Amino acid sequence: MEKIRVQICTGTTCFVMGGADLLLLEEVAVERWGKWGVTIEKFEQRVEIAGLPCSDACRQKDKKPPFAFINDELISEATIDSLLEKLEPLFFSEEEKSSMGRL
Ligand code: FES
Repeated sequence: MEKIRVQICTGTTCFVMGGADLLLLEEVAVERWGKWGVTIEKFEQRVEIAGLPCSDACRQKDKKPPFAFINDELISEATIDSLLEKLEPLFFSEEEKSSMGRL
């Protein structure tokens, strides 16, 4: 299975607008999804998190920082909650979602 790529902007604007908190994504995901058997190891097998220099998304007037990408989808006003919401359906298999009652 191909890893899900999460890129978090670490440029100054994003960083001061809340991007620094996004770097806790893995920790929070494991804390919240632990009830479904997600460990750090399992998370890291499926998700690759990386910092990203400013992509100039912060210069677009219609979008607000902090920015992140999940695979190639740009997420503006990213929060841990919004990233986990986008990640959840990508992270868990149909079988897992069914046993979690998330289908
Ligand atoms: S600082 Fe994040 S897109 Fe520019």
